[in-house]
Amino acid sequence: MAQLRTPVQRKKKKQYIAVAMIVAFMCLFGIYSFASKEEDYEKEFHIPLVNEQLVVCYENDMDYRKGPYMTTLPGTMDEASTTQRQQQQSTSSQYPAQSNGTEPMIYFVTPTYPRREQIAEIIRLGQTLMHVPRLHWIVADDTASCSATLNSHINKFGIPYTHLASPMPEVYRLRKNAPRGVANRRAALSWIRTNNRRSGVLYFGDDDNTFDLKLFSEIRYTKKVSMFPVGLIGDYAISTPIVRNGRVEGFFDSWPAKRKWPVDMAGFAVNLEYLALSPNATMPFKAGYEEDEFLKSIGLKLQDIEPKANNCTEILVWHTQTKGSKAPTVRISMDRQKLDKVNLGGLLKRLETMGVNHISDAEGTTAQAIMNGSVKPLSFWFS
Ligand code: UGA
Ligand code: MN
Repeated sequence: MAQLRTPVQRKKKKQYIAVAMIVAFMCLFGIYSFASKEEDYEKEFHIPLVNEQLVVCYENDMDYRKGPYMTTLPGTMDEASTTQRQQQQSTSSQYPAQSNGTEPMIYFVTPTYPRREQIAEIIRLGQTLMHVPRLHWIVADDTASCSATLNSHINKFGIPYTHLASPMPEVYRLRKNAPRGVANRRAALSWIRTNNRRSGVLYFGDDDNTFDLKLFSEIRYTKKVSMFPVGLIGDYAISTPIVRNGRVEGFFDSWPAKRKWPVDMAGFAVNLEYLALSPNATMPFKAGYEEDEFLKSIGLKLQDIEPKANNCTEILVWHTQTKGSKAPTVRISMDRQKLDKVNLGGLLKRLETMGVNHISDAEGTTAQAIMNGSVKPLSFWFS
């Protein structure tokens, strides 16, 4: 027998259905928004291009490097045996390279960012680049304003250079997996275009990598795109093209992902005339896919790739990484001005400017002095 429902029962049933529908809708919406968040994570936003900044902080087109880096050590040659002399001569003919001043320029693009190791990295890299003739160093700093400290350290090498300030857009900086060094490299690409540099070679060299000087003579005459192995990458400890009969046929890299060109940033160089054929070429703000999509954006074809480093059998660049650690706080409770009477005043100020450490009068590791093998409070020195 069919039950007859009262109007009240009917109303209740309708309410149940409505509530169930709302719950179902909320669940679906939750799943959808979670999924789209995942997507956003990988998504490249176009709006931030509006606030993409590029400040040219300082430029020097002159090469102020002098002889010392180009000569062999005086004195040692006279005393050396013939065999030693021959060895020295063969070494000196390779390192540093000789130049007649007309070779194609290498535009060496280095993204960098303020952290306590920055200046140390720049000094180490700059001293490598000092040995490379015909090189223009584009140092693009991930900051909104120009760092005078950074500039003074780049300037001292005498290498022709451009110091840019090119901050990562905030929307990307907030991400867990932020695309590092992209705003910087885009700024360098933009500088190259604006300044109409159409001959020479472009190379992306991060501030923490290690470069064999032979790399530079290898990439200098790149016709379109050259490629070579990068050591210390991923689970194979190497990322390299696979070469047969002098031609690149594929790639060997432990992180293929969805990449057509599974190479590291330090593993290729591009001829500037060839780059100029793709005026819209760019690097996306997409962590892990920067190299791949940049190479797609220049319309690269497999047959255009020249293998270097002795058909990709030598490692001329290493993906070394500097271990970062927190800047320590040093506790100095005495009047800091007194420190200016000795070297410590100036020295600690310099370290603080570079963010290497912090000084506090209330917390941190208490600063002490050592005299004649015994530890004394720092103030003891000034009493
Ligand atoms: C690897 C690749 O070798 C990089 O070329 C690539 O940009 C990076 O991954 C990535 O895909 O995110 P990795 O050693 O993991 O490099 O990264 P970092 O050395 O920390 O950064 C790459 C470059 O960007 C460095 O020159 C660094 O100074 C600069 N960087 C890093 C910034 O400009 N801003 C940052 O916040 C972090
Ligand atoms: Mn690195």
